[in-house]
Amino acid sequence: MKEAIDQIFKELADLKAASAKEVEEARIRFLGKKGEVTALMEQFRTVAPELKREYGQRLNELKKAANARIEELKFKVEESEVASAPKEDLSMPGDSFPLGSRHPVSIVRQQIVDIFRKFGYDVAEGPEIEDDYHVFEALNFPPNHPAREMQDTFFVSTGHLNPLLLRTHTSSVQVRTMEKQSLPIRVVCPGRVFRNEAISARAHCIFHQVEGLYIDKDVTFADLKQAILLFAREMFGPETEIRMRPSYFPFTEPSAEVDVSCNICHGKGCNICKGTGWLEIMGCGMVDPNVLKASGIDPNEYSGFAFGMGVERIAMLKWQVNDLRHYFENDMRFLQEFATATEV
Ligand code: PHE
Repeated sequence: MKEAIDQIFKELADLKAASAKEVEEARIRFLGKKGEVTALMEQFRTVAPELKREYGQRLNELKKAANARIEELKFKVEESEVASAPKEDLSMPGDSFPLGSRHPVSIVRQQIVDIFRKFGYDVAEGPEIEDDYHVFEALNFPPNHPAREMQDTFFVSTGHLNPLLLRTHTSSVQVRTMEKQSLPIRVVCPGRVFRNEAISARAHCIFHQVEGLYIDKDVTFADLKQAILLFAREMFGPETEIRMRPSYFPFTEPSAEVDVSCNICHGKGCNICKGTGWLEIMGCGMVDPNVLKASGIDPNEYSGFAFGMGVERIAMLKWQVNDLRHYFENDMRFLQEFATATEV
């Protein structure tokens, strides 16, 4: 038996395998049910008792060595398979995946905000679910103003003095700014607003606004006009002209609607401006003294102007989109047209 064991040790040392199949054959040859090592283990039963200890140890070593040798060969074969496998071609182009891009409404909102930032305005934000006080009362809306009716405003809670509602304009953020910020104030308030309107090509129940507020000593209507003219020229091009038409808002006095000269026909009249040469872009006015007073600002010392515009409307004018609903449907064919639109 001793020779047989030594012989198998030698065979193991000389063993070679070039493939996984040959490794498996070697395993069967030595360690399989009828393998050489297995056979010796069986013979062990017949070994004389005084030799059992010595041979037992020796056989165990042999079995371990056989297992180790097979593992070693297996590892070598795997390694050489990896090494000989065809190399990855690192110059191959990678798999491309579609990149998202900004939504056109976000692009325009950012452009508007960036223009006013250049003029020194801060950005202020506030809650979308607001109370009646910040959306209406502090802004000088009389108690029976139609905007306070169910058909114009989405109420979240009713039945008490200061109901919660979805803000109908971001002027509420201006009120919150006046309440907590020291003077002078120069802010723009971008945000989502909600109105109980039937959805059509020109109106939606959810849209976006950027409103602005400037309060300091001696702020005049001329300052308002100049700020809006500069904004319009940055937004629609240096040739742009503006005109102001008298209007009414409870929170400004005097109030105006602002039109810009049509950037398509340059005033000649086309179907975008409906032949007038002008496009309406925002409402504005001098902050009503009652609004200043409600927020603890002395109207004898301070004055200010406010303006507010719809982001979708500016985006429609900028890109001649004729249906507001495109901005909400997320049709990839529409959105992709803006994938390369540059941001200011
Ligand atoms: N808050 C007005 C609106 O939502 C816009 C506006 C803001 C008008 C400030 C004048 C001054 O329509």
